[in-house]
Amino acid sequence: MLNCQKDHFNIPDEITYLNCAYMGPMPQQSVAIGQEELQKRLQPFQYSRDDFFAPVEILKKNFADLINCSESDRIVLIPAASYGIANAANNIDFSKKKTILVVGEQFPSNIYSWQKIVEHKGAKLNVISASQNPERRTELWNEAILDAINEDTAVVSIAHIHWADGTLFDLKAIRKKTTEFGALLIIDGTQSVGALPFDVQEIQPDALICASYKWLLGPYGLGLAYYGPAFDKGTPIEDNWINRKDSERFENLVNYQPDYKPMASRYSVGEQSNFIYVPMLNASIQQLGEWQPNRIQEYCKNLVSKYLPEFKDLGCSLSSESAMAFHMFGIRMPEGIDIAALKKQFDQKKVFISIRGNAIRVAPNVYNEEKDMIRLLECMKEAL
Ligand SMILES: Cc1ncc(COP(=O)(O)O)c(C=O)c1O
Repeated sequence: MLNCQKDHFNIPDEITYLNCAYMGPMPQQSVAIGQEELQKRLQPFQYSRDDFFAPVEILKKNFADLINCSESDRIVLIPAASYGIANAANNIDFSKKKTILVVGEQFPSNIYSWQKIVEHKGAKLNVISASQNPERRTELWNEAILDAINEDTAVVSIAHIHWADGTLFDLKAIRKKTTEFGALLIIDGTQSVGALPFDVQEIQPDALICASYKWLLGPYGLGLAYYGPAFDKGTPIEDNWINRKDSERFENLVNYQPDYKPMASRYSVGEQSNFIYVPMLNASIQQLGEWQPNRIQEYCKNLVSKYLPEFKDLGCSLSSESAMAFHMFGIRMPEGIDIAALKKQFDQKKVFISIRGNAIRVAPNVYNEEKDMIRLLECMKEAL
């Protein structure tokens, strides 16, 4: 079992940081590597041709291992989740099947590209909203998604867990139904990959898109994506030299090359070699590989599950333990809670957490300790 890993971070003891879903703290070793790499930019003569390629290959391989993907050429570097979604959305045929299925209040970076497809390609957006039944919310929401997948569904584009309240979507069942109806499945893994196990071979998504600055503990501005064979012949949203075949041969670059590098490589962002961010993200992913997402999830479960009955005793509602992820979950406040007083408590006790309407989003990670949960409970008791 994993112990608390606070030593890898720089979070002062008086701070309770329960907001990794907003931004993950980078491990100290990742930041140290970034600082070294930044210094190197003073001396461009230190960069060899290999520096444009080798670190990217290592990063792709380490991320592929983290998600159990056997082909690292299916991994690409993206600047933001929106970019990864756009590359998928622009390469789906909507001539026969018209429906794009998303869920209610989905994160905008996984909505706007689809809205454009609706506008330009005559597709339809089917938004499956959350069930209003608080006890069976997760179960009923998943059922509604499954019921909505049919012969007209071209693609389902959802997250593994909902970014606002942590609702866990049943990807295995959704994959089964999409396969039955020949629909694609695109997963936004930004709020899950790194802290909740994701296995490409088990789920077989057509694409998996992850910004890295949350659960992958990476820098803001570099993310990672996986694209399956359905996208092998697509057209990327931009065309940079490095994604073309034989781009290592700098002396040959103006003999323009029509062919791309293999598999999904065409979708990597221009200037993907980003000499500072690539090694930083790689250091974080290597660390996550050592900790392992299943052990991170177990750590979060051990940390929070003991306190769940206490939240319930205060009149809060939560998903049942069997239907929640422990690295990110919503606590719905009882009627009559004074949100302004709660905010004040959080400020006074230096508890960093997201408040959404009358719910709070708790997002712990391996640096959190029991005292953080106790402080959170104290704030809520004070505000009630
Ligand atoms: C589910 C989800 N996807 C993506 C993002 C980030 O999107 P982008 O990288 O396009 O800024 C967030 C940020 O909160 C998110 O919660």
